[in-house]
Amino acid sequence: MKNLSATTHPLFVSADGSCTAYSEQYGEHYHSLKDGALNETLHKHVIPGFTLKKEKKELHILDICFGLGLNTLTTLWYYKTHAPDTKLFLYSPELDEELLATLTSFNYPEIFQPFLPILHVVLQEGCYEDKQCRIELFRGDAREYVRTFSDRFDIVYQDAFSPAKNPTLWTVEYFADIHKAMKKDAVLTTYSIALPVRLALYRNDFYLYLWHDEKVRSFTVASKKPLLEHTPLDMEHKIRCNPNILPLSDTQIA
Ligand SMILES: C[S@@+](CC[C@H](N)C(=O)[O-])C[C@H]1O[C@@H](n2cnc3c(N)ncnc32)[C@H](O)[C@@H]1O
Repeated sequence: MKNLSATTHPLFVSADGSCTAYSEQYGEHYHSLKDGALNETLHKHVIPGFTLKKEKKELHILDICFGLGLNTLTTLWYYKTHAPDTKLFLYSPELDEELLATLTSFNYPEIFQPFLPILHVVLQEGCYEDKQCRIELFRGDAREYVRTFSDRFDIVYQDAFSPAKNPTLWTVEYFADIHKAMKKDAVLTTYSIALPVRLALYRNDFYLYLWHDEKVRSFTVASKKPLLEHTPLDMEHKIRCNPNILPLSDTQIA
């Protein structure tokens, strides 16, 4: 089996047989070993996003952050097999240069083989473009990158490491920038169901939903406008029941 840098990003096989890695810097795996890396990507981000935005002929997706590129590859595979007429624009920031340098030899699932040449162009040039899709990799801080957009994204995959390990990508102030970067009917998908995260989204006027898919543990979908046929979480009730829990804020981060 091919490996990443064995010392800083050791490889792990997850429950669905797909590979992920562990970050020594953050002390976390890039994907849930329990749900499976491919399952998590597909069922917590790509399928909910594409299903909720199925009427769109053009999709602008922000992936926070690029990591192993699994969200990017899964999105490419899904759109080619389920929504080939959609025009796809993918945007993703990533800070970890050392990780990016190792990805050409990562052990990706077999279904992604046709898309690896695209990944290699993205890694080398920072951007891939053809008639149907454009993929941009920004090498730098996601906070800075997100602030450069306004009213752009239809879908945001909020897939940072956990709030405990990667707090700057879960604060009220961060989600304010994300809110501004999203179109008025856009949705955000995240594996996190933590109350401080939901409060940070709620403070920015998102409607919040607990989402279920039998392949993975339940997760959160946030939407700028109410989703018909779905009941939003009663956040005022949660706040009354948990008066001491606060959303994460930039001011709490050293
Ligand atoms: C859980 S992983 C993302 C997994 C990825 N979506 C995938 O499909 O493989 C989180 C990533 O966020 C990156 N990261 C954390 N903070 C960042 C920041 N402020 N700006 C850019 N990237 C950041 C980490 O280096 C890591 O690669």
